[in-house]
Amino acid sequence: MSYPISEEHERLGRAVTEIIVNYVRGLDEARVTSNATPADLEQLFDEPLPQTGMDAADILRRFTDEVVPHAMQIPSPRYYGLFNPTPMPIGVWADALASALNQNGAAWRNSPSASIIEARVLNWLCELVGYGPESFGTLTSGGSEANLVALKCARDSVHQSVRDKGLRAAGKELVVYASEQSHYSFEKSVDILGLGRENLRKVATDETFHIRIDELRAEIERDVSVGRVPCCVAGAAGATSTGVVDPLDELASVAREYGCWFHVDAAYGGALACSEKYRRLLRGIERADSITFDPHKWMFVPFACGATLIKGGGRILRDAFDITPEYLSEDRGGADVAYDFFRYGQLGTRRFNALKVWMALKTLGVRGYAEIIERQIELTHYFAARLDELKDFERLGEVETAVCCFRFMPEEARALDDAAQDELQRALQRRIERSGEAWLSTTVLKGRRALRVNVNSFLTERRHLDDLVELLLREGAQVLR
Ligand SMILES: Cc1ncc(COP(=O)(O)O)c(C=O)c1O
Repeated sequence: MSYPISEEHERLGRAVTEIIVNYVRGLDEARVTSNATPADLEQLFDEPLPQTGMDAADILRRFTDEVVPHAMQIPSPRYYGLFNPTPMPIGVWADALASALNQNGAAWRNSPSASIIEARVLNWLCELVGYGPESFGTLTSGGSEANLVALKCARDSVHQSVRDKGLRAAGKELVVYASEQSHYSFEKSVDILGLGRENLRKVATDETFHIRIDELRAEIERDVSVGRVPCCVAGAAGATSTGVVDPLDELASVAREYGCWFHVDAAYGGALACSEKYRRLLRGIERADSITFDPHKWMFVPFACGATLIKGGGRILRDAFDITPEYLSEDRGGADVAYDFFRYGQLGTRRFNALKVWMALKTLGVRGYAEIIERQIELTHYFAARLDELKDFERLGEVETAVCCFRFMPEEARALDDAAQDELQRALQRRIERSGEAWLSTTVLKGRRALRVNVNSFLTERRHLDDLVELLLREGAQVLR
C-alpha cells in the first residue's frame, strides 16, 4: 500500500488549522508570558528518545497543552518587546506552503520558480529603498547575517585579494565605524571577518541617541593618522534600543569623503520606506553601498527572513561569495546560473523564505504597510503622551519610530544612587513580566538602565496601551514597597 500522504496532510491540516485559529482567537486575553523556570520546562520535556511512533493527535495535544502555554506570546497585542512582530496569517501559511514544496534555493535547478521569486522580492525591496535597477541582494536568516554579508563586501572592497589571501593583502588594519547604539551583530561580524573586535569603533551618540558626526570624523582622523584604513561607515535606520534613525545623508557624505563603504542597518526601519509620511527619515539611504532590511521585523512575516541589498548589484556579492563546487558546477550555458543564490551569500541550502515576503507584499501592498506602520508610530506617540502626564515616569529621547524609552522615577527614587535607580527599572520590568499582562524589555542608554516599549503588533490598539499605563502604575506602586 502506498504511503497515504495526502490523507495525512488533510488530517493534520485540519487539526493544525483549528489549533492556530483557537490560539489567535485567545491572544488578547492570554497571558503574554509563562512563569515557568528552565528547570520546570526541563522536567516537562524530560523524555526518552522515542523508540516507537505515536499518534499525531497526541503529539498535537502536547503542543497545545504544554508548548503553547510556555511560549512567549510574541503575536499578542500586549507584547511590546524587541522588533518581533505578530506574523500576518498569509505569512504563516506561506511558510507551510514553502515547507510542502521544500525547495532548495541554493541552485536555480533545484528551485526554479522559488529562485525567480526570491529575485523578484529582492528587486522590490531595492526599489522600495530607492536603489536603481542594477541593484540586487540576497535573502538571509536575519539581520545578523545580513550585516555580516554586507561587511564582507565592505572588507573585500578595500583590496581585491583580501578574499583569497586574507587581511595581509590589505597590509593594514581595517576599521569599521558604527554608533554605540549599533546592533551586537557588528561586533560579531568584525570578529568573523578577521578585522577584530577592537577595530569596531563605537561612535558616541548625541542626547537623542543619533550618531555624532563630529565624533565619527574625529575617530576616523585618529585612525588615519596612525595608518589604519577606514573600511566601512555604518548607520542605523531604526536602532535596536531606541528605534532612531541616524543622519544617513551626512553619514553617506563622510563615507564618501574617506573612501569607505557605506552600510545602513535598516533591519527594522527599512519598512519606513513604505510610508510617504515617514520616508523622509531615511533620506540618504539610497546612497548606501549596502542595506540590511529584515522582512521579519516591520513587515510582519514570521521568522526567519532578513535581506542584504547591494546598490552595485549581484556582481559585488558574487565577487565576495562565488564558488563552484563540482556537484553544482554543471554548465547549463544559460542565464540560470544568475539565480544560483549559493553564489550570492553565506547560505548553502536555503528555504523558500521569499514566498512569505512575496505573498505578504501582495496582500498589503506598499500602501497597506504604510497604514499599519503609521498607525503604530502614532500609537507610540500616544503612549509617550500618556507617560508624559505621569509624574513618576520620565521619557528618554524622542519617539521617532514605534519605540519609546523611559524610566520609572518616582519622588522616592530620586535620592537613590545610579545602581539602585537602575535596579528599580529591572524590578519593574520583572513585575510586569510576572503579571503576564504585557511584556516589555529594558535596555541600557548612556550607561543607565531604561524601560523600552516597541509597538510591533498590528493587533495593538489604544486600549492595550491604556492597560499598559495602568499596569506600569500598579506595579510601580508595588515595586516601591
Ligand atoms: C538594528 C538591528 N540590526 C540587526 C539585528 C539582528 O537581526 P536578527 O536578530 O534578525 O539577526 C537587529 C535585531 O533586533 C536589529 O535590531
